[in-house]
Order: sequence, then C-alpha cells, then structure tokens
Amino acid sequence: MQPFNGNEEEQFRRVYLDYNATTPVEPEVIEAITEALREAWGNPSSSYRPGQKAKEIISQSRESIGKMVGGCSDDIIFMSGGTEANNFVFHTAVKYFWDTYRKAKIHGKEEGPVEMGGALPHIITSNVEHDSINLVAEQLVKEGKREVTFVPVSKVTARVEVEDVMSAIRPNTCLISIMLANNETGVLMPIAEISKRVQALSKKRGAPRILLHTDAAQAVGKLQVDTKELGVDYLTIVGHKFYAPRIGALYVKGPGVTTPVYPLFFGGGQERNFRPGTENTPMIAGLGKAAELVHRNLERYENGMRETCEYLEQRLEEVFGKEKLHFNSHFSGSKRLPNTCNVSFLGVHLQGRKVLSLCHRLLASVGAACHSDQGDSPSPILLNCGIPPSVAANALRLSVGRGTTKGDVDVVIEDLRAAVQQLEGLS
Ligand SMILES: Cc1ncc(COP(=O)(O)O)c(C=O)c1O
Repeated sequence: MQPFNGNEEEQFRRVYLDYNATTPVEPEVIEAITEALREAWGNPSSSYRPGQKAKEIISQSRESIGKMVGGCSDDIIFMSGGTEANNFVFHTAVKYFWDTYRKAKIHGKEEGPVEMGGALPHIITSNVEHDSINLVAEQLVKEGKREVTFVPVSKVTARVEVEDVMSAIRPNTCLISIMLANNETGVLMPIAEISKRVQALSKKRGAPRILLHTDAAQAVGKLQVDTKELGVDYLTIVGHKFYAPRIGALYVKGPGVTTPVYPLFFGGGQERNFRPGTENTPMIAGLGKAAELVHRNLERYENGMRETCEYLEQRLEEVFGKEKLHFNSHFSGSKRLPNTCNVSFLGVHLQGRKVLSLCHRLLASVGAACHSDQGDSPSPILLNCGIPPSVAANALRLSVGRGTTKGDVDVVIEDLRAAVQQLEGLS
C-alpha cells in the first residue's frame, strides 16, 4: 500500500518511507471507526442501545489490545496517546514513592524510604528516549521533585547495558523506564534481562518497589511484544505507529491491585477512574481493530518488512558502494526493528536534509518527527549512540511499512542516486 499514490501519474509517484513517524490507517480500521461513529454514538455509560453498543465495542477493543501484548483486558487503560501514557507512568511512580514513604513513616518501619532521610524519588532512564520521557524527566528535575539518572547507551551496541542500569539503582529508585525499540536506530533494548535482575534485587530490598516501564511505541506491530516475557509493570502502546488512529493505551499489570496507578485526571469515573473522561468510542474501536490485525498477522507483517528493509540496504550498497555509506542502525551485538534503516551518505555536501530536499519521490525524515525543527544539527540520539557528528549530520531515517514493495525501493534508490549526484556536482 502506498498512501501517496492517489491519482498521480507513475512518474510523480511518491514513496513514503517514514513509517516510524506515523502510519496510514488500515482500511479495516477505518471501517471499524466509521461503524462506531454510526452505530455506537451513545454515551458508553448510558443504559439504552447506542450506549450499550459503545460499551461493548470498548470492551472488545480492550480485549484485543490485551491479547496483542500478552495481557488481560483489565490491564489496558485507554489514553490519548504515547505522550500521555509516558507522563502518566512518571507521575504514578513519584506519587507511589511518596505514598510508600508516608505509610512507612506512620507505621514507624525502619525500612525503605524511612532510612533514606529526605531522599527524593529516583528514576532511571536512558539517554536515547523519546522526548515524552526525556523532557518530563528533565522538567521534574528542574522543579526539584525527583532525581533522574540518564544511563548512557553503549557506543558499541547503542543499547543500555543491563549492568549499567543495575549499577545506577539507589535505595530511593522507584522507576526504571527504558524504551523497547529506539525510534531512530531501531535498536532493541534488553528489557527482559533488566526485569529479571530487578525482580531478583527487589526480593532483597524493602519498599519502595522498583517499577519497570517500557515505551513500546515503535515495537508494537513490528515484532512480538509480550508483557509476560518482558516482565514489565507498564508498557506504552501508540496507535498511530501500527495503522490505528491517534489514540493510545497503557498496559498496567493488575492496575491498582498488583501495580500502582495514580490518575492524572479526575472526573466521571470512566476507565475505572484511572483515566476518566467520556470514552472516545470510534478511536477506541479503531485501536482495537488494529490490535486484532497485529495479533492475527504479525508474522507476515514482520517478515515482509524485514525482507523489504534488507532489499533496501542491499540496493544501497550495490548502487553507492559500501565505502560511501554508513548504516547508523547497524551495531555489533544488537538486534533491531525489522523496518528501520538509518543511513548516511558520506561526503561533505551530503547532509540528510539536503539530500531529502532534492528527492522528488521519497518522503522520509532525518530523525524523530518531534526534532524536525532542529535545523541541520545532527540528531542527539545518534550522537549518544557514538555516531560521529559529521556522519550523524548526513543521516536519513528510512522506515518501511507493511505495504512497501521492492518496486518502491527501486524508485527510492533512483531518487537518492540523482540527489547525491546533484549535490556532488556530478549531474
Ligand atoms: C518511542 C516513542 N514514544 C512515544 C511517542 C509519542 O507518542 P504520541 O505521538 O502518541 O504522543 C512516539 C511518537 O513519535 C515514539 O516514537
């Protein structure tokens, strides 16, 4: 599927390779949304038919999303998107820390935060997270409300290393939040290993419990995401990265029972009061349908994207030569998403933005969409992964989708070849 074909002539065909920024909405998902708009317009809290229909759709969607991530339907809380889900987790962890502290003090227990004196809640994250983690962490440090350790990723693997995370843990650590897959390099982080080590440590330690969160925005729909295998307490789900509309959800293992939840909003009791506000039934219907598609077809989606992405990299090497390229998504010993090729053309005039501006067909980006106002400065994420500034400045993030074909790749290669030649004054 190429969303930008429209009625344009073949010669003007655009090829979209920015599926990590956002995806188009699958036709079946559009159908589910449309049906909900027509048939389930009632308030889900109302007892008459249109309201009850809305309630049924919401509960079916919750079930599909739970299944997609290996959890139960009760573990799913609908949210506006990934940014809200990530902020929610940070807010919860801090509130949980203070509540635990207060309770321990009341009971005069010589354990946990009591023995820490006036310690602030401490959070561990990495230095390659999305801004919806990074900036909320920085903001709360500025406000003096918590301490944060940004564990640097290894410059060899581009992953956070388990030992580095473990050695950052302090007595007042209440949350570890590490993304599952990086949005620029596609590199996968060792969440399951971190979880095992943290669980072993938690058995020895008193309160506060160390909560584990992963932002799975880029992984869902591209590879198997199983909350049980990962051993996480919270997992962020972002609809517009897997062919659903702009809505999201947070997986919480046993919300309010096994795992703490402190709402950001207060209101009419929806979402068991964890996230009140009249439910956005049509978008929830769309998210549920997209989750159902992932659950049913993941293997096909994953294999298809991997094959196309490998073909893209093979064609780049054949056409430009290995010495002209640097793959910013290849790190020794690290696994990565099946769809992400981050590549730099090496040369003084070949900055990513310049190359893209001369491409007539390729639609892609130089990095995360939320950093698109950063001019020509290289991506801080790539720099943190050890990519030299002159190479990072030339980066292009090419991310393929479910429907990207080898024919699309051929079009892109021709476009890139012409753009590079023009910049080198060869055409
Ligand atoms: C890794 C990651 N986390 C979080 C988000 C934010 O999600 P949303 O756009 O739904 O707020 C994104 C979106 O770009 C992302 O790539």
